[in-house]
Amino acid sequence: MSPAEARSSAPGKVILFGEHAVVYGRPAIAVPVTQVKATAVVKAAPRGSGLTLIASDLKKQIALATAPEDEPLAAAARLTLAHLKAHEPDATVTIRSTIPIASGLGSGAAVTTALVRALGGFLGHKLPPAEVSRLVFEVEKIHHGTPSGIDNTVVAYGKPVYFVRERAIERLKVGCPFTLLIGDSGIPSPTGKVVARVRRAWQREPAHYDALFDRIGDIADEARQAIEDGDVDALGPLMDENHELLIELGVSSSQLDDLVDAARLAGALGAKLSGAGQGGNVIALVEDDCMSDVETALMETGAVRVICTKVAAAD
Ligand code: MEV
Repeated sequence: MSPAEARSSAPGKVILFGEHAVVYGRPAIAVPVTQVKATAVVKAAPRGSGLTLIASDLKKQIALATAPEDEPLAAAARLTLAHLKAHEPDATVTIRSTIPIASGLGSGAAVTTALVRALGGFLGHKLPPAEVSRLVFEVEKIHHGTPSGIDNTVVAYGKPVYFVRERAIERLKVGCPFTLLIGDSGIPSPTGKVVARVRRAWQREPAHYDALFDRIGDIADEARQAIEDGDVDALGPLMDENHELLIELGVSSSQLDDLVDAARLAGALGAKLSGAGQGGNVIALVEDDCMSDVETALMETGAVRVICTKVAAAD
């Protein structure tokens, strides 16, 4: 029998190294951001009412029975029901999120993860991360066209990951905790469009773009070694170089470059854009003594919010 109520939440994420190149099979590193989260609560509804999905942040109220195929929340619910071979329950799912939308913090993946897990729980199944991640990936395709799978993986597992497309997930050991400031430019980052633009550029000049992807992949490998060795000082220059390569890919913007420069000038060990780019977030690696200067510099350079997150060993 279903419980009267089930709830689940999922964190946001940032990509530390390797965005875009990861779509082309190179490695990337991402970590959960637990300071923001999406939550889904499933409650029993009167018999015959079917499943209703309410996302007030998105101003959506959706009846599953009549929702279009490509409606992402409905697709998440349908995939979960099909996976569990379950009938549509009489229930209401209320979804809330503190993760800014289209900012590179994985809000779509987190909302879907919370929904899939909560609905599974309501139906009496504790879905393991690998199954949640696979279902969320299907919905990510509706959101973004050709996702690599890194967002659903880091959000569903809720742990730092070293990720290579279509390979088993590798958890990342963190030798020494380190702190990131995440500065939100306030400008939307349209992941699907930016990924499609990079694809067109790669199709025009494959050798040039493959060389950029190769170097970004090498940086992700070097960063993995530094993170596992606890060599935090080595990470800053790798972030800076990764940002330069993202500029060469054409996914940065003057606002993101200004935020990155401001963070470095205020004492960050390194900084880069994070996620698809064009807008969204930058991340800056900080030590305690420069943290408040970097935060102030980001805000004075136009960031609409700054989140501080610590990357530590997963349990
Ligand atoms: C988006 O968070 C990261 C990208 O690399 C796209 C993807 O990996 O699917 C830009």
